[in-house]
Amino acid sequence: MKPREIRPGVYWVGVNDRITELFEGLWPIGREGISYNSYLVTDEKSALIDLSKEMLSDDYLAQLSGVYDLASLDYVIINHMEPDHSGALKRILELAPNAHILGMSKTVRMLKDFYGLTENITQLTNGEELSLGKHTLRFVYTPFVHWPETMMTYMVEEQVLFPCDGFGGYGALDGGIFDDTCTNLPFYEAEALRYFTNIVAAFSKSVLSALGKFADMPIKMVAPSHGLIWRKDPGRILELYRTWSEYYHQPADAGITVLFGTMYRNTERALNAALDGIAEEGVPVSVHDVRKTHVSYILPDLWTQRGVLVAAPTYEGKLFPTAMDVLMMANRKRVSHKTAAYLGSYAWGGGAQADFEHIAEKMEWQVLNGFGFLGQAETADLDRAHEMGVQLARAVKAGE
Ligand SMILES: Cc1cc2nc3c(=O)[nH]c(=O)nc-3n(C[C@H](O)[C@H](O)[C@H](O)COP(=O)(O)O)c2cc1C
Ligand SMILES: [Fe+2]
Ligand SMILES: [Fe+2]
Repeated sequence: MKPREIRPGVYWVGVNDRITELFEGLWPIGREGISYNSYLVTDEKSALIDLSKEMLSDDYLAQLSGVYDLASLDYVIINHMEPDHSGALKRILELAPNAHILGMSKTVRMLKDFYGLTENITQLTNGEELSLGKHTLRFVYTPFVHWPETMMTYMVEEQVLFPCDGFGGYGALDGGIFDDTCTNLPFYEAEALRYFTNIVAAFSKSVLSALGKFADMPIKMVAPSHGLIWRKDPGRILELYRTWSEYYHQPADAGITVLFGTMYRNTERALNAALDGIAEEGVPVSVHDVRKTHVSYILPDLWTQRGVLVAAPTYEGKLFPTAMDVLMMANRKRVSHKTAAYLGSYAWGGGAQADFEHIAEKMEWQVLNGFGFLGQAETADLDRAHEMGVQLARAVKAGE
């Protein structure tokens, strides 16, 4: 894709990554891809804001060569040191020997730790401004969105926010790089949520505090380093992130996420009865088969729905492993304020229910009820499962 002038003198010079299967080695993006958005400001002085992953350096340098001769580059602005944005740094410095690197204090240390760089580095302070001529850049320290060194850059005259990972999303850019030129906005919004829950959600408090720092700075465009650039409705992505972040300290939407697993379908029949009960109460439900679904795709529902039903059997005295894997990741991602229930089959001593209750307690989830049953679900078990569905749905509707 060609570079685009997104504001006068400001260019998108990003690249798509359709090669990486697992982002951060964890999160599937093989089908969806991702973009590493980088921005070039040309003025009396020139600056690059965030770069690309090393693997795509050739594509990235080709992008840049179309708009600018790097030999006269003045500044490289590092909002965030993670190598998906800083990986191309050494290649850039070879071509731009006079460029100064700018970042917050922890960035300075990481530049040495990651790349052995100690020269031509200027440490920024929160709120500091840099004039490039017609464009002024203001650097706002936003620690832990999602690393300790992260800052966001605000272009004062154009009112453009360059938040790097903040307000970003998965999804390679299919030609249309803006919210008003892409042809599949729902895809990018869904992928922004998946990205948020996978990468950023554990730092929701920091996102809210970052948003607070921009409360009195008008924002006409949000230009993150992954995903769409929001120019038609920049408030949209900020509000989505605000809403999602709020769920770290309050119950989310009325809805139930089901974590379902089974070996021999005994648990599935009881789950079906519970689902009938939930449906009678008219509460939205999303059933995820933990045997077949990567947790990356489950976290968005788990994060945005306030009810959870775990329907999985006992396996070697504990909860069915892939169901526990999802819960362990939920714990890592600080999924909280859930109302939950458990059902599942066992054949002798059981143990899944206690295992579930243990991790639910760690996450401070409110466990409404739970039960196990021996072997196949008898009529009484199915009735109980149905009633559990009704009770969980009612609690979720009541906002508990
Ligand atoms: C490998 C394996 C380990 C199991 N471990 C236990 C166990 O520790 N305790 C128990 O009560 N049942 C255990 N079971 C029995 C299952 O929980 C039981 O067959 C249950 O009905 C399976 O439910 P499902 O049909 O939903 O898969 C185990 C079954 C298998 C295949
Ligand atoms: Fe990052
Ligand atoms: Fe990133």
